[in-house]
Amino acid sequence: LHVIHIAAEMAPVAKVGGLGDVVTGLSKALQKKGHLVEIVIPKYDCMRYELITDLKALDVPVESYFDGRLFNNKIWVGTVEGLPVYLIEPLHPNKFFWRGQYYGEQDDFKRFSFFSRAALELILQAGKKPDIIHCHDWQTAFVAPLYWDVYVAKGLNSARICFTCHNFEYQGTASASELGSCGLDVYQLNRPDRMQDHSANDRINPVKGAVVFSNIVTTVSPSYAQEVQTTEGGRGLHTTLNSHSKKFVGILNGIDTDAWNPATDQLLKVQYNAFDIEGKSENKEALRRYLGMSSANARQPLVACITRLVPQKGVHLIRHAIYRTLELGGQFVLLGSSPVPQIQESFREFEDISNHFKSHEHARLILKYDESLSHLIYAASDMFIIPSIFEPCGLTQMIAMRYGSIPIARKTGGLNDSVFDVDDDTIPVQYRNGFTFLKADEQGFNNALERAVYHYKNNGDGWKKLVQKDMSIDFSWDTSSSLYVELYEKSVARARALNR
Ligand code: ADP
Ligand code: GLC
Repeated sequence: LHVIHIAAEMAPVAKVGGLGDVVTGLSKALQKKGHLVEIVIPKYDCMRYELITDLKALDVPVESYFDGRLFNNKIWVGTVEGLPVYLIEPLHPNKFFWRGQYYGEQDDFKRFSFFSRAALELILQAGKKPDIIHCHDWQTAFVAPLYWDVYVAKGLNSARICFTCHNFEYQGTASASELGSCGLDVYQLNRPDRMQDHSANDRINPVKGAVVFSNIVTTVSPSYAQEVQTTEGGRGLHTTLNSHSKKFVGILNGIDTDAWNPATDQLLKVQYNAFDIEGKSENKEALRRYLGMSSANARQPLVACITRLVPQKGVHLIRHAIYRTLELGGQFVLLGSSPVPQIQESFREFEDISNHFKSHEHARLILKYDESLSHLIYAASDMFIIPSIFEPCGLTQMIAMRYGSIPIARKTGGLNDSVFDVDDDTIPVQYRNGFTFLKADEQGFNNALERAVYHYKNNGDGWKKLVQKDMSIDFSWDTSSSLYVELYEKSVARARALNR
């Protein structure tokens, strides 16, 4: 198959969260299986250019339509982790991707509707004939209606469209009048069964458009796929998802097991593997030293959390977890950054207080995005908390397990499909790998944390076995990428049958 991903993120060159990891991890797995995979992303000023090899600009620009006229786009090609990547640099006076950040701009809707159209134009003008165009999240959701409404008539007609929604909280809704900029027909599309948002008849919803107009719609775990088809979980899209349920499926993400491998990870103090986990304590010691934490008690459990600090992630429970861990005699490390200034500030104040009371010897809050440090924290920690209010998939619990850090997770979405409680008799023993809780309150969380700390302190051998077991679980993309291939192939076969 020839698959082209169009996305706003790609790890490690342009990563904000799990979306970037998934685009790269899934693409690498598909490539390994022999498929031709290409990726189209914006050319951001703030991306990590040092990780792109053979980057060069093509001689001929690609012209794309926006706001009633044509704009040139400079097209760059390069290789990231062995994957061919196209980067689009719009030569538009608003310098859409020259903002020092990936998202969070006033004109995000314009930036990404422009990009979606330019990406399709690039595929058309380069004469590519992909079998699948796979777009991700609201930023590239425009691709689905644009493909059928505009590009099939222009001759780009080989592809089936797959849309993956990584998080239904972000739907990219905007005033209907904005839709025309990228050449979509607002009169045709602003209808309840197409792109009109449920909230008002003059708002349009790109994610809804992608659900309606794609051939395949996926989300990132089976449990989350169920949740979003309910009134409470669907964020206004449950009826649309219900009426398109035949083409909608949840596939659990994998992780890139080459990028996340404690046996080869050069960002660790020492490498280690499931057969020999001794190296974990050296990494723990190295992290403590690096962060200026006490190492008087080597057996003190180190609890970690690495996350975007947004309400989805259970910010109040993360804050509570720090106190409760200290009360239980553990140590806590948080690596997190927030796009919400009030949340970021509240953790900063919290850190000041802990400095004042000298509890920083046992609790450290690192309030930034730091890829390198994240590796050491996964390796150094004994336990890893993910108390999310909702979680489409979540990758950190899988990365944590790969590094032998036992997850303490709320039973929701993808966490429910990947973390299984060691004390839950209803689950076959071989699947049990962590500690879970259901109620998103302090009591619920305490119960799971306390059980984890108890096991850690009183059942040393059992704990070691659990660490080794978690490190041996296969979280690679191998199985999940096969599920995507199956969907792609079915859809391609269906299109052929219809054309015959
Ligand atoms: P989401 O995409 O909702 O943020 P995921 O669990 O799917 O959550 O993915 C988060 C990814 O981002 C993981 O690879 C995690 O290690 C990384 N990450 C999150 N916050 C930070 C941070 N402050 N520093 C470094 N990496 C981070
Ligand atoms: C989103 C979700 C997260 C998921 C990631 C990758 O950011 O919040 O749960 O793991 O996308 O699919």
